[in-house]
Amino acid sequence: MALRVVTLSAALATAGAVCPSPQWLLYRDQCYWASPFPLEWRSVASVCELQAPGSRHVSVHDLQVAAFVAEQVLNGTGGWLGLRRPNESAGWQWSDGTPYDWHDWAAGQPRGDGERCAYLQRGGTDGWRDGDCIVSYLRFVCQTEDQLVTTTEPPETTQPYSTTAQATENSVTVS
Ligand SMILES: *[C@@H]1O[C@H](CO)[C@@H](O)[C@H](O)[C@H]1NC(C)=O
Ligand SMILES: *[C@@H]1O[C@H](CO)[C@@H](O)[C@H](O)[C@H]1NC(C)=O
Repeated sequence: MALRVVTLSAALATAGAVCPSPQWLLYRDQCYWASPFPLEWRSVASVCELQAPGSRHVSVHDLQVAAFVAEQVLNGTGGWLGLRRPNESAGWQWSDGTPYDWHDWAAGQPRGDGERCAYLQRGGTDGWRDGDCIVSYLRFVCQTEDQLVTTTEPPETTQPYSTTAQATENSVTVS
């Protein structure tokens, strides 16, 4: 029994949290990717899906993630967030359907003059701005869950199994 626990831990440590590719950065249990190219806001969701199936335009719900995205993922270059409002009288909505429960608008933002999509300005650690969704000079960030190896116990078996077999099984699960 003790051997089994050690084996599982070793396999988990080896596999760890996995992002779609080395270009994605891991923070907490999420992977983030900044596009090297700019795009208009409405095309972002489909390009994220192409980059990694299941990935989506980034949503931000606390200061730590806001800072990570601005500084580590976008490296201060600025870019679209997955946040827009359908019109000036409607509320702001994250495109991934998560609640608009936190924001980091810059002073005087959003301006509410018809601009409907949120972005981080270049160098932008001072907060979010609202911009014209149609402009196509901003990069963007995609987000997806990391692919963590399951921590559930393997099925009970009467046969002893080797550490190599267990490690292989976990690797296959990940890839
Ligand atoms: C991040 O930005 C700094 C300052 O502009 C630059 O020197 C550095 O090469 C950038 N790093 C990456 C990974 O792009
Ligand atoms: C604004 O958008 C909301 C949500 O989509 C919609 O219910 C409302 O009718 C819209 N208002 C106007 C003036 O278009």
